[in-house]
Amino acid sequence: MLVLGIESSCDETGVALYENGVGLIAHVLFSQVATHAAYGGVVPELASRDHIQKLLPLIGQLLTQSQRTLAEIQGIAYTRGPGLSGALLVGAAFAQSLAFARKLPCVGIHHMEGHLLSPLLEQNQPEFPFLALIVSGGHTLLVKVQALGDYEVLGESLDDAAGEAFDKTAKLMGLAYPGGPLLAKLAEQGDAMRYALPRPLLHRADLMFSFSGLKTAVAQLIDKEDLRCVKVQADIAASFQAAVIDVLVAKTLKAVKQTGLQQVVVSGGVSANVWLRTQLQAGLTQLGAKAFYPRLEFCTDNGAMIAFAGCLRLAAGQVSEFDFSVKPRWSLNELRL
Ligand code: KG4
Ligand code: ZN
Repeated sequence: MLVLGIESSCDETGVALYENGVGLIAHVLFSQVATHAAYGGVVPELASRDHIQKLLPLIGQLLTQSQRTLAEIQGIAYTRGPGLSGALLVGAAFAQSLAFARKLPCVGIHHMEGHLLSPLLEQNQPEFPFLALIVSGGHTLLVKVQALGDYEVLGESLDDAAGEAFDKTAKLMGLAYPGGPLLAKLAEQGDAMRYALPRPLLHRADLMFSFSGLKTAVAQLIDKEDLRCVKVQADIAASFQAAVIDVLVAKTLKAVKQTGLQQVVVSGGVSANVWLRTQLQAGLTQLGAKAFYPRLEFCTDNGAMIAFAGCLRLAAGQVSEFDFSVKPRWSLNELRL
């Protein structure tokens, strides 16, 4: 079955074709970063309008690139939530209309399910059951993944997501939007031991996260230190990054011990972070456990993970009703196959 996947939950329009038994056929992505940069964050209305403008041309590009035709598509998958409602509606309305017109099965996908299954697109892939650490701009989740559609959220952030903390701290430091990757780059030259920043909820027994206090701690540092000095900037970035990563790694290792699961999928934008990968690797090796990542370009939002999740669900016989409604807030715990 050849499935078209559509991702439009935030500021990236992603489309892809996945065929079961064959694999990923092609994928195309358009990032709206330049559109939102002037505002220092995603402007929802601009995001929706841009998805409307880009979706059709991108699908045209996808078909040309893969040398496939619209008539060959046998199923459609789109991101139904969570995300920005206007942005989600663009993908939902398009996918449902195309499916209706061509009498194809259509399925609405949970964006975080896309992220947690994304390492299964790679050669080196985990087998069910596994643990997933999903760290993106909107979510920080530790999930027990029993099988497709069988998810138990073990821990999540009580306030800012890890990526959000990176972005907000970068903004405080005067870095350009989107700041997370820039802050991480700056941290590479810094001394992570120079400033002692808090490790929120590190010693709590549960697997919950909290990152908003860290941003406040950095704001106080910025008031005291001279940010014009590049060394100070790099040291603050490194100290901040170490604090976030220490907590992410410690809680993930705790989850490995609690569940006994030896395979850990790490995905979402922050999974591209080099320090996270190095620290996690060291911790997991000691426990005899192993990490699995999507390829770098699929760490952030993309259509491939939606086409893939859609293909698995459609192949299992799941079809959504003809319904344009989206789910801007949606817990993974609610999912079933
Ligand atoms: O998964 P994603 O593309 O979007 C959401 O679903 O939210 O993740 C984007 C997030 C942003 O917050 C971005 O700053 C962060 O991932 N990010 C990073 C790095 N690369 C992207 N954060 C830390 N280090 C990185 N190297
Ligand atoms: Zn995402």
